[in-house]
Amino acid sequence: MLKTESIKKLTEPFNIAIDNIASDKSISHRCAMFSLLSNKPSRIKNYLRGEDTMDSLRIAQKLGAIIKDDGEIITITPPKKLTEPDDILDCGNAGTGMRLYAGLLSGIDGSFILTGDKYLKSRPMKRVVDPLRKIGAKIDGREDGNKAPLHIRGGKLKPFKYHSPIDSAQVKSALILAGIQSNEKSFYKENLLSRDHTERMLNGMGASIIKDVENEWIEINPLTKPLKPLDITVPTDPSSAFFFAVAAAIIPNSKVILKNLTLNPTRIEAYKILEKMGAKINYIETQNIYEPIGDIIVEYNELNGVEVSQNIAWLIDELPALSIAMSVANGKSIVKNAEELRVKESDRISAVVQNLELCGVKYHEFDDGYEISGNNILKKATINSQGDHRIAMSFAIAGLLCDMDIEDTQCIETSFPNFMEILGKLKCK
Ligand code: S3P
Repeated sequence: MLKTESIKKLTEPFNIAIDNIASDKSISHRCAMFSLLSNKPSRIKNYLRGEDTMDSLRIAQKLGAIIKDDGEIITITPPKKLTEPDDILDCGNAGTGMRLYAGLLSGIDGSFILTGDKYLKSRPMKRVVDPLRKIGAKIDGREDGNKAPLHIRGGKLKPFKYHSPIDSAQVKSALILAGIQSNEKSFYKENLLSRDHTERMLNGMGASIIKDVENEWIEINPLTKPLKPLDITVPTDPSSAFFFAVAAAIIPNSKVILKNLTLNPTRIEAYKILEKMGAKINYIETQNIYEPIGDIIVEYNELNGVEVSQNIAWLIDELPALSIAMSVANGKSIVKNAEELRVKESDRISAVVQNLELCGVKYHEFDDGYEISGNNILKKATINSQGDHRIAMSFAIAGLLCDMDIEDTQCIETSFPNFMEILGKLKCK
């Protein structure tokens, strides 16, 4: 059902601390999957209760895990042996769910069918299917295995040495999950370190995934015994928190304290760009659970245009929200080398520029990005989210400046179910 939300302009600055932003989506997916590699129950606090990650949990259950949820802690008891399910495995809207499960299931005896919603079924899967086929996995799907549903017949896998042409944590993680199930060392290389939750978490559980800093290959050692269970409090998702960072950066005299985020350097590049544009930003590390965790404080300041063409994998999910800041900054901004944006939950290059145009913003579109002319006073528009959660939330933030109607907001449930509730709180000082 198409649900439209009307966002009302903020007439006053806000100054708040937010401690209930959605938990990290990447880490939550991995919790559901990696707990299957232990032989003891894993305990997960603050698991993201969004549609994407609940789908990953349901898949773990279909593979034989027992899931207990007391409302606060989710306990995942893995089966003695992962079992062939009697039903298809539905990843919903989640590329991470589908690609990582493809890697994991490739090494397990049995027949598995991974499917998803209409958006996920149109996203490219060859990036994991090709390298997994090369090491012995039997995978089929529409368009010669590029589109889901994917049928995986898992089994014994060969070790590999694979230099990935794309910097993708989903591809890397799929290959790591396959590699640890082989019986000899494998090696993986990427040009820019993509988010490294998989390596950090699996190593914390007792696996041996070693990055050779000099030659930049990741050495993936086979598992010799079941992994230790997870005992984790999932930190806040910096990509979800970023919507409120942008809100503080564009509403004069506002300030937000974003609590308990992962401060993993591969995840906070967008904050560094917002800082480069002029926003005042402070990072306060408070603890380390598999990775650094802490608060980020963002304060309004006049913004200037910026060019973003490097370390794209570190801010790929935040570019739609950043484009809102770019459209009100002084002078033009450019995003380049971001062709991956075209194959996210929507084609985010066209979704961003088409919706900005509706708000009166001038742009140039490139194959791998866009140029946005700055200095705009955004005008009210009816935004087409294209079923993409990050497009819907980015333009909801833009609506704080000018009022906005956002069509198809159901997609926000995939990653940030209480987004609208927190947005509403910005109005109370
Ligand atoms: C993710 C990796 C990124 C990111 C996605 C989550 C992950 O995708 O865009 O939202 O959890 O591994 P790619 O690795 O394909 O760039």
